[in-house]
Amino acid sequence: MQYRPLAQFQVSEVGLGCASYWGKKHFSEQQASHVVQTALEQGINYMDTGASYSGGYAEQRLGRILRHVADKDTLVVSSKVGTEVGRFGRLYKDFSPQNIRHSCERSLTRLGIEQLSVCFLHGPNVEDFNDKTYQTLAELKQAGKVALWGVNTFNPHIIQLTQESHQFDVLMTDFNIFKPHQLNTLKSARQQGLEVIIAGALGSALYSREWQRAYRLKNLWYKLRAFKNNRAQLKAAKYFDFLNTHPDLTATQLALAYVLRFNCFSSALIGSTSAGHIRDLTAVSGQSIPSEYFQQISQAQKHCGFV
Ligand SMILES: NC(=O)c1ccc[n+]([C@@H]2O[C@H](COP(=O)([O-])OP(=O)(O)OC[C@H]3O[C@@H](n4cnc5c(N)ncnc54)[C@H](OP(=O)(O)O)[C@@H]3O)[C@@H](O)[C@H]2O)c1
Repeated sequence: MQYRPLAQFQVSEVGLGCASYWGKKHFSEQQASHVVQTALEQGINYMDTGASYSGGYAEQRLGRILRHVADKDTLVVSSKVGTEVGRFGRLYKDFSPQNIRHSCERSLTRLGIEQLSVCFLHGPNVEDFNDKTYQTLAELKQAGKVALWGVNTFNPHIIQLTQESHQFDVLMTDFNIFKPHQLNTLKSARQQGLEVIIAGALGSALYSREWQRAYRLKNLWYKLRAFKNNRAQLKAAKYFDFLNTHPDLTATQLALAYVLRFNCFSSALIGSTSAGHIRDLTAVSGQSIPSEYFQQISQAQKHCGFV
């Protein structure tokens, strides 16, 4: 596993996203734990979760699993504030100073750690960038509860505000084979002094034949999510089918190798419920993507109008 700097930390260039189906109640905790243990064995030292992920269950689950990890203090763990789970699992936003403080404390308790390495504002709106927020973030940093503050957003205007405010250390945004135009965003954030974490580095594996042909409940869940949130990418996936033709590397390995080729970020997050997939994907760190596949990805991106 290769490591990259994230301010004062060194993080694995592949990070584990502890969210989505992995954190769902009906996904076995034993299997979820096996995924985390495998990630640690493969050298992953960065884990990301969120207070509202998987109906609020993912963060608690990660905390229970980390309690059995001997040297968990050497891990870099991030969580998020500002998105809450309300009645009937409905998500709502609350970036008030009280809730930021409360959410931070709750994350520390749930995760069983003294400090969040990174805490992200989870999808803030324009009005959440204000002096009261900044003061609260500064207080929590001063108190040692949070080492770095970040913003998790896919919205270009909010990314710009994050840069211009000079109040944050880290930006978490998406970049994958479907989103080559994001490269400019990542580079610009780095130029403005922000560290960058990549969310959704696999592009939900929509182009993977293995993913397309799997008919288990978890795959149905991801398919419905893709239908709701990423319909254009779901349609474009067929143009990336060539990724399934490499004799030794899987489609997701090639897609991750494409992302890791760039050095304008610290860690690329992958989500998985399978220890085997974690082993496959971590094996890509340090390997370069075959140039013919890089070229074919570039052509498919142009064909789909992604660049
Ligand atoms: N996507 C977002 O909107 C978002 C937003 C904020 C933060 N993040 C962060 O980014 C992390 C990752 O994003 P994500 O969970 O949305 O999705 P993702 O990593 O882009 O994709 C997850 C999907 O890829 C499949 N997959 C993984 N490895 C595979 C392999 N080797 N072969 C075939 N399929 C494979 C998984 O199935 P299996 O379970 O079968 O492996 C799952 O269906 C999150 O956990 C979170 O920490 C994401």
